[in-house]
Amino acid sequence: MTPVRVVVLDHTAQTGGAELALLRTVAALDPALVDVTVLLFADGPLVDRLRSVGARVQVLTLDPRVAGTDRHSLGRLSALRTVPFVARLARELRALAPDVVHTTSLKADLIGLLAGRLVRRPVVWHVHDRIATDYLPGPVARVIRLLARHAAAEVVVNSRATADTLLPLPRWTLAHPGLAPEQIGPDPIDRVRPPEPVVGIVGRISPTKGQLEFLAAAELLADRFPALRFRVIGDALFAEQEYADRVRSAAARPALSGRVEFTGWVADPGAELDRLTVMVHASPTPEPFGQVVAEAMARGVPVVATAGGGVDEIVRPVGEEPRGELVAAGDVAGLTEAIARALTDPDTAASRARQAWFGVRRDYPVERTAAILTAVWQRHARGSAPAASAAPGPTRWAPRPVSPGPAER
Ligand code: GLC
Repeated sequence: MTPVRVVVLDHTAQTGGAELALLRTVAALDPALVDVTVLLFADGPLVDRLRSVGARVQVLTLDPRVAGTDRHSLGRLSALRTVPFVARLARELRALAPDVVHTTSLKADLIGLLAGRLVRRPVVWHVHDRIATDYLPGPVARVIRLLARHAAAEVVVNSRATADTLLPLPRWTLAHPGLAPEQIGPDPIDRVRPPEPVVGIVGRISPTKGQLEFLAAAELLADRFPALRFRVIGDALFAEQEYADRVRSAAARPALSGRVEFTGWVADPGAELDRLTVMVHASPTPEPFGQVVAEAMARGVPVVATAGGGVDEIVRPVGEEPRGELVAAGDVAGLTEAIARALTDPDTAASRARQAWFGVRRDYPVERTAAILTAVWQRHARGSAPAASAAPGPTRWAPRPVSPGPAER
């Protein structure tokens, strides 16, 4: 069988969550089945990282006034300025002659749809954002929902929570962002706990990630746990410097003085996770998926997370014991108590973290994400995707059996 030819479109080459998920997926694709080119609308660190895993990458620069990097600038996607870019993109696509165009960011979804129409190729949307008004401007959310229903050949979602913001959809597929083998730590039964407790938050410094809520909880914990230290891992990425300044001033408050460390951007989040006693996920708005939660579990680190969005699916999988503590978004007192529980009862936290490690290893291998996407592309390449109205609901994926670990049920 000749490999299916896919062109993946993303508007940014910054390493946001969706882009890191893409990077791992591309690395896991079977070249005998998929011939992939990633076409980015900007230059940036993702280009080299994709190339380092052997991917073919092209950059076709979109006017930065059109391609602002935060999702709120989507509303400013000016139709007129976009026209010449769509034409250039269509020319590029014609030359690449893909069977399927796959888009992985909202801007790429919209632009890719137009260019895909011009070259008459099916366009699969890979949605990593909740299409909800607590997350996007209302008119933008409405347009995206409409196009997802009527114009995309198929919609792939990163979580059930994301799907819920788009349903009803004629055809959709769930593909959780996968964990690469190197992200999975050894059996946490052998995990050496840090000698001094350290509680950390990992991710871009942004109001959507809740570093301020994390530090508010830290302030309440500081007195009760005199040896406790806090780490803010990550840096501001998408024009969020003002928020980062507020986070730094919060860390400078007297109760926290000298106890909060900022690592800045880190190349190896796994090593940072290994140093933590508890990992906190504090997003005040529901996270579409929340890769860092699964990543912490893959290292055997106890997790305290704000509920909502995809995080609920990771932390409380249906029919299983919870894999961490969930607290209500914005509830600083609840967050504080949940962290305190994990610190005062480390054995319970550790045994739950070990169950979580088994769970995420089984549920989120990146090979599965790659296999699901490959099946989607093959279906559309053959043009055999069933008529939209004939196949409501998600496409089924039969998981490959994973050899059970000792504590797996
Ligand atoms: C986006 C979402 C995040 C998700 C990631 C991968 O960055 O905001 O929740 O984990 O995509 O799907």
